[in-house]
Amino acid sequence: MKLDKIRQDIRGLSDGKIFLNNAGSSLMPSIVVDSMIDYVELEEQVGGYEVANVNAEVLEEFYDETAKLINCKSSNIAFATSATDAYAKALSSIIFKEGDVIITTVDDYISNQIVFISLQKKLNVKVIRTKNLSDNELDLEDLENLIKEYNPKLIAVTHIPTNSGLIQNVEAVGKICKQYDVLYLVDACQSVGQMVVDVEKIGCDFLTATGRKFMRGPRGTGFLYVSDKVLDQNYAPLLLDMRGANWTEFDDYELFKTAKRFEHWEISYASLMGLMQATKYANAVGMKNIEDYNKKLSQKLRRNLKNIGFKVWDQGNNLSSIVTFCGPDGDLENIQKVLKNNNIFFSVTYKNSALIDFTNKNINGIVRLSPHYFNTIEEIEKVSEILKNSL
Ligand SMILES: Cc1ncc(COP(=O)(O)O)c(C=O)c1O
Repeated sequence: MKLDKIRQDIRGLSDGKIFLNNAGSSLMPSIVVDSMIDYVELEEQVGGYEVANVNAEVLEEFYDETAKLINCKSSNIAFATSATDAYAKALSSIIFKEGDVIITTVDDYISNQIVFISLQKKLNVKVIRTKNLSDNELDLEDLENLIKEYNPKLIAVTHIPTNSGLIQNVEAVGKICKQYDVLYLVDACQSVGQMVVDVEKIGCDFLTATGRKFMRGPRGTGFLYVSDKVLDQNYAPLLLDMRGANWTEFDDYELFKTAKRFEHWEISYASLMGLMQATKYANAVGMKNIEDYNKKLSQKLRRNLKNIGFKVWDQGNNLSSIVTFCGPDGDLENIQKVLKNNNIFFSVTYKNSALIDFTNKNINGIVRLSPHYFNTIEEIEKVSEILKNSL
C-alpha cells in the first residue's frame, strides 16, 4: 500500500487533522469528489438525461466494481441510497404473514431492530434474538436450536455492529442457513470497505452496505447484493417501479432479471459515479491489504487505550476497526473535549443506539474511534499520548 499517495489523495487531511471517524462518515479520495463535480457540471450544461446517456458505460462500471469488491456478478448488485434503503427493499421483498419468525441477534443495528419491531407490531411477526456466548461470540448452537423450533422465515445478522468492535461469524451462520434452507440477510454496512467481504463465503441471500463509511464514497449512496437463488425465485421489492419491471399488459408486468429490479428509476447519477470511483479506489488498493493494515491500527489503538487505563468495551474473539471505550470511571465528556481540542475526529454512541448491548455492559455510552487505511501508526501513537495526558 502506498500510504503517502493515499494520503495525498485526501484534500481533507491538509489541515493536519487526525481523522478517526470512518465508521461514521469517512473522507473521500479527491477523485470521488472531482468525478461528482464534473458530472453535475455537465448536467448543468446539457441536462441529466443527456449526461446519463453519454456516460452509460462508465456508470455501468459501478456494478462491475462492486461485484469485484464482494465476489459476485454485476447482475447481483443494485444501487441504493443508503444501507437502510437497501435493507428496507430486501425486507419488503419477503412476504411476511402473521406468526412468521425472524431470528436476529442482540447486536444488530438499531434501525434493523426498529424495523423488526415494526413488523412485529403491524404484522404480528415474531422476533427472536439468539444468545451470545460468554466471550460475546454468537451462540451457533442456540441459533440452530431456534431454527429447529421455530422454522424461521428469515435470519438477519449485522456483520459488524455500529457500537462495538465485534465481527460476527457470518460465514458460520451462512452454513446453518444453507443447511436449513432459511433466507439470510446480512447487514455489512460497517464491514464493506473495512475488510474483505465475500458473499460466496458468507452464503447470504441479501447483503446491504452504505457508501459514506469505510467505502469512502459520498453520502446518499449504498448498495444491495441479491443472490441468484433469490432473483430466480422472483423476489422483488413490494413497491417496485419501472426500473424493476416491464409493463407488458394492462394488469401485468414482467420482472427484469437482474438485481437492478431492487432500484428505483430515479437516482442521483452523480452520486452513483462517486460511489463507483470510491469502490474502484478500494479495489485498486486491495481489500486484503486494507484489512491487514486496519487490524494493525486498531489492535495498536486498543492495546494503548487499555494500557493507559481506559475501559475498552470491545468484546469478542475477532475484533474490527471500531474501537469503543470510556474513561476509567465511565467518563465520556472529558474525552470528547480533549479530542475536539486536538483536531481529532471521533464519534459517540449512547445507550439508545445499542440498547441491549449497553444494558448488558451496564454503560450509558462509548466514545468510538474508527481508524482506516489512510491513518498512520504515528497518528495512533499521538492520539494515545494526548489521551494519556488527559487522565
Ligand atoms: C451496522 C449498521 N447498519 C446500518 C447502518 C445504516 O446505514 P445508513 O445510514 O447508510 O442507512 C449503520 C449506520 O451507522 C450501521 O452502522
